[in-house]
Amino acid sequence: PVLVVDFGAQYAQLIARRVREANVYSEIVPHTITAAEIAAKSPAGIVLSGGPSSVYEPGAPALDPGILDLGVPVLGICYGFQAMAKSLGGEVANTGLREYGSTAVRVAGDGGSLLGGSPADQTVWMSHGDSVSKAPDGFDVLASSDATPVAAFASDAKKLYGVQWHPEVKHSPFGQQVLENFLHRAAGIPSDWNSGSVIAEQVAKIREQIGEGRVICGLSGGVDSAVAAALVHEAVGDQLVCIFVDHGLLRADERRQVEEDFVASTGVRLVTVDARQQFLDALAGVSDPEQKRKIIGREFIRTFEGAAEALVLEAKAEGDKVRYLVQGTLYPDVVESGGGAGTANIKSHHNVGGLPEDLQFELVEPLRTLFKDEVRAIGRELGLPEAIVGRQPFPGPGLGIRIVGEVTEERLELLRAADAIVRAELTAAGLDEEIWQCPVVLLADVRSVGVQGDGRTYGHPIVLRPVSSEDAMTADWTRVPFEVLAKISNRITNEVAGVNRVVLDVTSKPPGTIEWE
Ligand code: XMP
Repeated sequence: PVLVVDFGAQYAQLIARRVREANVYSEIVPHTITAAEIAAKSPAGIVLSGGPSSVYEPGAPALDPGILDLGVPVLGICYGFQAMAKSLGGEVANTGLREYGSTAVRVAGDGGSLLGGSPADQTVWMSHGDSVSKAPDGFDVLASSDATPVAAFASDAKKLYGVQWHPEVKHSPFGQQVLENFLHRAAGIPSDWNSGSVIAEQVAKIREQIGEGRVICGLSGGVDSAVAAALVHEAVGDQLVCIFVDHGLLRADERRQVEEDFVASTGVRLVTVDARQQFLDALAGVSDPEQKRKIIGREFIRTFEGAAEALVLEAKAEGDKVRYLVQGTLYPDVVESGGGAGTANIKSHHNVGGLPEDLQFELVEPLRTLFKDEVRAIGRELGLPEAIVGRQPFPGPGLGIRIVGEVTEERLELLRAADAIVRAELTAAGLDEEIWQCPVVLLADVRSVGVQGDGRTYGHPIVLRPVSSEDAMTADWTRVPFEVLAKISNRITNEVAGVNRVVLDVTSKPPGTIEWE
């Protein structure tokens, strides 16, 4: 792999993704890693990420200088560039000239193996206070800016490279080329990591882990569990059984997508548990959001456990044991929780659908090394339905937390109809890329007066909550064009009985959360 050493800024994950976009596998490691630990991983290359600090600050994250002597090609970025310069005998100075944002740099000569092929004058994204004022001996200076005489350097002999700017962000238009030059030209790493190779590798790993054992997987209708199940099925076929709990809080058509389209495209054995009435009964009379979440979580685990137990008994009767449980854990969860191996890193927030602890299964987590966009690519490669692979994030408690007020069958039906219209119109307007997700919320306890035909109405409002986001931690409300909003509003008020008003949520996160409950 290429190892991305995380110096503590938010950029390490982005760097890891960009390296993978160059079809090279990457992993993130903490900056406390030693040269010996790095050597043990036999990396093909190392990228030192940016960080929040100055190399002279007390407690600034240190770089084990042995990392630069391993003979492994290294690219230092921003803080990583400065840490490299300092460690190799160059000079890092606080010039008092901060550079932040789009900055012009001049490339020296032909740019060498790192900057070759990119324009002599280009704009890059900078974010630094200290500057490298003198390159280490034997290094070529490849670029400079007004504030920074040494904005990039290289030693082809030592295979050590660095840039002061952030090539991983889109605001550096030639950034990806810098990364690819480092990976392919300077370090000579081939582009051989792609969906196909990931599938082959994971299938082999899953076979090795599971052997002849039996395995179960809970499907939610979302992309992660579907792709995880498809991979495991590819590896061990009918040793896998999937459980799908229909809690009645799904959106229109989602059950059919799982039961028909997913099954048809994978051949997975599926058990659906129809628990709609059970959930409605448990939710009757409850309007407090936290209580709703608790009830849905509890009923979900109860139902899943029941179905799993039935499969365990069935296997037992056939002289086998169900020993494995598939989880769709993704790489960001692993990185954020410190990367402990073999643990189920589910944020408490996301634990609806999580596994009960007393069920003694070993976890199978085939997506543990992958980012979301990679999971989608693999899903497409495996031929899964686009409706599942491209699905927006949808909370485990489903429409239950998008009805402000008590959850009833009538309200669910109304919300499902409104939600289907919103999804169809946003897709038709080509906004799926721009919109991270668009919760549609029914204010069931609010009524307002309207007029329709020549009669007075007294109906409920529907809230549209389109947001743009990178990771759901922060979000901004999406500026959906007025014509699209007009069409949605028109259709909902005309087609969904009981709704006489459509309103738009124009709150960012923070202070608002994405969901209303
Ligand atoms: P909030 O509302 O906290 O949501 O801004 C952040 C993201 O998490 C999703 N979400 C959930 N996902 N189980 C889930 O699997 C949950 O209980 C849950 N609650 C919120 C939400 O849709 C958004 O993408």
